[in-house]
Amino acid sequence: MNVSSRGVKAQASPIRRLAPYADQAVRSGRKVYYLNIGQPDIPTPEIVMERIRTYPGKYVPYSPSGGIPEFVEAMSRYYAQHGLEVAPKEMITTVGGSEALQFAFWALFNPGDEVILFEPFYTNYATMALLAGVDVKPIPCDGRTGYHLPPIEAIERAAGPRTKGILLCAPSNPTGTAYTAAEVDAICDLAKRLDLWIITDEAYREFIYDGMKHESPMTRPAVAERVVLVDSISKRLNMCGARVGTLVSKNAAVREAALKFAQARLSPPTLGQWAAAVIDKVPASYTQSVVAEYRKRRDLVLDGLAGIPGAFARKPEGAFYLMAELPVADAEEFVIWMLKEYKKDNATVMVAPGDGFYATPGRGKNEIRFAYVLEADALRKSMDILKGALEAYPVKVAP
Ligand SMILES: Cc1ncc(COP(=O)(O)O)c(C=O)c1O
Repeated sequence: MNVSSRGVKAQASPIRRLAPYADQAVRSGRKVYYLNIGQPDIPTPEIVMERIRTYPGKYVPYSPSGGIPEFVEAMSRYYAQHGLEVAPKEMITTVGGSEALQFAFWALFNPGDEVILFEPFYTNYATMALLAGVDVKPIPCDGRTGYHLPPIEAIERAAGPRTKGILLCAPSNPTGTAYTAAEVDAICDLAKRLDLWIITDEAYREFIYDGMKHESPMTRPAVAERVVLVDSISKRLNMCGARVGTLVSKNAAVREAALKFAQARLSPPTLGQWAAAVIDKVPASYTQSVVAEYRKRRDLVLDGLAGIPGAFARKPEGAFYLMAELPVADAEEFVIWMLKEYKKDNATVMVAPGDGFYATPGRGKNEIRFAYVLEADALRKSMDILKGALEAYPVKVAP
């Protein structure tokens, strides 16, 4: 008996695949600072926790497949607060942004189609594409330019007859890059000219720093019918385990297709939607303090990197991730070595090797991705450990 070729081809998550080494480090008595996974440590808003504590039902029913009206209406008001006009009927509630992504791939593409992803990208995109039989067309972005988009002509040249869509993720996991209005306009214009879908993953919409403004293709009327917004409450409400997201589209055919997929899996989480149905009432001060905290953490990581000879990272504009080049030839080997061999004050650090965020072989080998999801003191210690580990690492790169 053989499992499917899909099952064989799917990549293990680069974020999780080194977990056994970290588990072993913990078993051997070392503390591990986990900077490998976007699992925030910040409390969920009190108004949401209060809903969780006061759920009035005597049992937990299925939700309508497309979502509980109370939640969907609250999301619609939340979108309005963020400058996005989304009617409740233009949205389908999903099991996290993850399911919205899967539905988008299934609804928009046929097997054999190709979708453009800007490298480095959130690795689950490749798995979602694989499950839909879609090929990934990776377009590399350069760390030296902050992983901003290459010239639009280069993107146009990369598009072929099988290319049916472009996926944007901004602010980005894994790079933290937020695209400018000009970048988003150029992509929308290209999508129109080449008749492409645009999937826009905005799980980190609010997480944007230094006065930058989040730019969404959803606000560009010229592409209204070709944009599918993939969204998530996981990070903005610090409730990743509630498993609630949305798929938004102005295109009725897209929504119809997605709703059929939603019906096949019956229901998104009832309790998560119940709790998050106050998303539009979460005080602005909550989000402001979370964003201020992440900005502080970003700067701590950048300060730490600035003190490491041979390390490089441009200051990213958003999300809570950043990619950095390290003075090593193979970052995965280095991360494994840190987990297996290295300790400072009996602690070590886990980060995600960069190559897992690329589809182009050989790219990202000397990069790592930080998820700066630990509080300031733990981050400072982590950066100190990383510096010490690089000094102690026996495998030196040629200068
Ligand atoms: C860019 C991006 N999109 C989508 C998701 C999926 O999030 P969830 O399924 O928890 O909503 C994540 C999770 O880390 C992400 O980083």
